[in-house]
Amino acid sequence: MPCPALPDGFDFTDPDVYRDRVPLPEFAQLRRTAPVWWNAQPHNIAGFEDDGYWVVTRHADVKEVSTRPDVFSAHRNTSIIRFNESMTRDQIDVQKLIMLNMDPPEHTRVRQIVQRGFTPRSIRALEDALRERATRIVAEAKRNGRGDFVTDIACELPLQAIAELIGIPQEDRSRIFDWSNKMVAYDDPELAITEEVGTNAAMELISYAMNLAAARKECPAKDIVSRLVAAEDEGNLGNDEFGFFVLLLAVAGNETTRNAITHGMHAFLTHPEQWERYKRERPATAAEEIVRWATPVVSFQRTATQDTELGGAHIKEGQRVGIFYASANNDPEAFDRPEEFDIGRDPNPHLGFGGGGPHFCLGKSLAVLEIDLIFHAIADAVPDIALAGDPRRLRSAWLNGVKELRVSYG
Ligand code: HEM
Repeated sequence: MPCPALPDGFDFTDPDVYRDRVPLPEFAQLRRTAPVWWNAQPHNIAGFEDDGYWVVTRHADVKEVSTRPDVFSAHRNTSIIRFNESMTRDQIDVQKLIMLNMDPPEHTRVRQIVQRGFTPRSIRALEDALRERATRIVAEAKRNGRGDFVTDIACELPLQAIAELIGIPQEDRSRIFDWSNKMVAYDDPELAITEEVGTNAAMELISYAMNLAAARKECPAKDIVSRLVAAEDEGNLGNDEFGFFVLLLAVAGNETTRNAITHGMHAFLTHPEQWERYKRERPATAAEEIVRWATPVVSFQRTATQDTELGGAHIKEGQRVGIFYASANNDPEAFDRPEEFDIGRDPNPHLGFGGGGPHFCLGKSLAVLEIDLIFHAIADAVPDIALAGDPRRLRSAWLNGVKELRVSYG
């Protein structure tokens, strides 16, 4: 279906588009005129052997695709909507070993096992340790007077939370942090992370996690690793499966939460009445609104396993379907005044953690806890924090990322 006002060649996964902004006006236009729209691409530009993908923009349709894994597969072409052009099909297929890119019944088996580590009880058990970390991180930043909010504050807690959750020994954490940081942001030339450096870091992280799993099998401890890997034949993870799971956590739990925190801070600083309200009332609804507003994962994708219809479009078996959470989270059919940042928003049926299907974010409660803890700590210790520059955005095809946000801590 043509969409008259979009310039020729416009691509909703073009990393250069996201260097400047998330294309919200273009999404709005599609929601109104062509809610499931074919975005043509030059052959094989995204790492896949094809010529484009469907752009799904409405809240209801994003939910539908997410909740029908039999028709919309996460496995066939993975959930990542755009790889580097230089990626080979073999390299893409390796990504299928992580659960984000599995379909039932394999996905169901792995998800049931790893869920044991993410019970409300296991997350609550981290709360005191993470609160103390959050307080320490903000106190440290305050001592510097001014600086980059991303490196000073937003980066640290998500990494610590994952290390704490898995039970990574304190002495190994700096290595884990280094590998995790090298694996992300390969699309941004300024960060000078080559694909080789990224791949090596991923291999080292997997191999570290596999060794940890083997050690815990020998000698179980009271940590999540032991719970997930002990007695493999009783429905637990193999060492290699555990390795890929830790890799997924390092990617899925880091950049996402870091960007939610950074966008949240920027939203507060550009909506001072909401910051005043937060400091006064500390509403429990704030973290979810921050995630809606930020929508750190702009999109994931699925691939149609059969010919099907969606939002009036005829989708053919084998075609890729992009689910644009950033568009769904601004759909006026689902939200009153979606363009307003409102920390009291309730209900808030946002899809920032996914559309409610089998892959719905495993770390949601942990992420919400982290966001709550860090903003409480900021409001307590540096209530007069102020902007000292515009955010510098990350160049990425599907992450709404900020790599630098200069602030003064008051
Ligand atoms: C604000 C922060 C976060 C955001 C916006 C976010 C977003 C998402 C999204 C959109 C998905 C895919 C949902 C789908 O396909 O239906 C996902 C999956 C996932 N997330 Fe998160 N996430 C966040 C934090 C975390 C954290 C802290 C962890 C763990 C430490 C985590 C672990 C995962 C895992 C393991 C999956 C894959 C689940 C599966 O395939 O079954 N996420 N997340």
